[in-house]
Amino acid sequence: MCGIVGYTGTNQASPFLLEGLQTLEYRGYDSAGVDILSPDGGLHGVKCAGRVATLVERCAQANLVGTCGIAHTRWATHGAPSDRNAHPHRDCSGTISLVHNGIIENFRELREELLANGHELVSDTDSEIIVHLVEESMQGPAKGDLLEAVRIATTRLQGSWALGVICTEQPGVLVCARKNSPLVITSDETGAYCASDITAIIGKSRHITQLEDGQLARLTPDGGIYVIGADGRHVPNPQTIDVSWSASEAKRGGYPDFMSKEVAEQPDAMTRLLANRLGDDGIVLDELNMTDEEVAAIDRIYIIACGTSWHVGLVAKEAIERWAKIPVSVEIASEFSYSSVLITEHTLCVVITQSGETADTLAAARRMKAMGCRVFSICNVIGCTAARESDGTIYVQAGPEICVASTKAYTSQMVASFLFALYLAHKNGNMGLDEVKEKYDALLEAPEAARTVLERSWQDRNAARAFQGRVSSLYLGRGVNATSAREGALKIKELSYLHAEAYPAGEMKHGSISMVEDGYPIVAVVPDDDTRAKMLSNIQEVKARGACVISVATDDDEDIAAQSDYVLWIPRMTEPMFNAIPAAVHLQLLARFVAVDRGRDVDKPRNLAKSVTVE
Ligand code: M6R
Repeated sequence: MCGIVGYTGTNQASPFLLEGLQTLEYRGYDSAGVDILSPDGGLHGVKCAGRVATLVERCAQANLVGTCGIAHTRWATHGAPSDRNAHPHRDCSGTISLVHNGIIENFRELREELLANGHELVSDTDSEIIVHLVEESMQGPAKGDLLEAVRIATTRLQGSWALGVICTEQPGVLVCARKNSPLVITSDETGAYCASDITAIIGKSRHITQLEDGQLARLTPDGGIYVIGADGRHVPNPQTIDVSWSASEAKRGGYPDFMSKEVAEQPDAMTRLLANRLGDDGIVLDELNMTDEEVAAIDRIYIIACGTSWHVGLVAKEAIERWAKIPVSVEIASEFSYSSVLITEHTLCVVITQSGETADTLAAARRMKAMGCRVFSICNVIGCTAARESDGTIYVQAGPEICVASTKAYTSQMVASFLFALYLAHKNGNMGLDEVKEKYDALLEAPEAARTVLERSWQDRNAARAFQGRVSSLYLGRGVNATSAREGALKIKELSYLHAEAYPAGEMKHGSISMVEDGYPIVAVVPDDDTRAKMLSNIQEVKARGACVISVATDDDEDIAAQSDYVLWIPRMTEPMFNAIPAAVHLQLLARFVAVDRGRDVDKPRNLAKSVTVE
């Protein structure tokens, strides 16, 4: 949540900062602000409630001049979205400016202490206290050294932070710090840059420095990046990565919105992930970093995730239990702290997270690690915290996912989970090599199936009409299709703010069928698998009560077509479990059309943010 960006160099700062904020706006979009060190030696800035576009308009009038600055786009946690609570925040003297992403858990005590020390706090945020702590250490032990002042200030904090700080006393110096919130840095011949996410700086250089938890850095206009640890000692070789994707991949590229682009990218993303995954000894999954003996000994798996990634976990459970015969518990990360965990020395924890920064998921993974459990992660964002804290990571290589609603990451994470399940099944002797090859070949059908669905988007366009004027809907499925139903319902809720409930179809008659009335939209995920016969009965039951039925069905299934008002056709898949992939693409398209019909901003649904870095 929240995006921060900073620059110091020889160019004017505001164009990069505002462009960076636009790129990061998916992280939070209820208010935004910028502060620049201007040539007259002062700080000049603008901040306001609302979207980055409003800030851009205000900045055009403010004519901000200067080559060093910081900026922020906010997802409110402490204090309402307002001009006053927008970042950057300044100290009492107005000479230090700070942006923050994260949560300061001990802010109440610190606030009391600062007020008692005579500081004037003007916002309701937890972030503002940090700039006043920096002010105190600047005037005290740090003796005017901004890097040291920020370091001392962070020793007082509990919680999570990614910070960007500038001050008039040290013109051109930009200090950053991170703990439990992402922050990346890069430089080129015109200066140095920091941001919450690679997408904001990838246009400058693909060579990225990643601060470790607790580290700080001083950026200087010559492109200098000087990193220190929490103890103040210089870190001569900070962690760096070279990113393979380009700036254009993080842009909309002619599509009406990022969601359309990302939905369309699914076939290519899955193809990338599937390439060279079958070797002489079965599935190639070196990323797991475990010996064959260790893999064969796995006796239990905990999958931990949130939201759409949690749905991937439910699909993964089906595949692992069916093929590898290993019991799997799928845990919602935010609930995990309240559950008792039963692990042995052979238990594996799998975290599934697109961003790799979801606070609940990270907290749960840390709990498992602390209990001595090996952690494997399935992530999309290269170098994310989840990957860095795991014993092994498979990157799904879907490329930057900007739309808040997860689409291409979902299908790629499913593909990764299927590969993982096949790998386990072969290594622990529950599946022979021939069968592994058959399943892998069947999985190779997924990109083409997704492509076929994309060509049929007119079916979703038509079916979206069933939702017009409606306030509620029901998504039904059985087995793995019940998970597809859950994901479809989440997409509709998230994008169009229309109530949708996902139900295992057989459970409907125990209560929720009473909601059905004339024209009530019901989405039935009913591909040609072992759930089809019973699903057909369920469809007839709701049809008899006047429902408007939208079925996701396998090509040429005339029985389903006869009972449905709309059909979203998917190609026949060799392996029934893989129906979840083309079904997901249809349900994404359907959700987008419903949202567009309602005039929603599909990339930035209200109240949400792309990476949820608060627990
Ligand atoms: O980055 P993560 O995969 O950990 O994110 C988890 C959820 O916040 C995320 O999947 C969310 O549910 C999506 N916005 C749904 O489209």
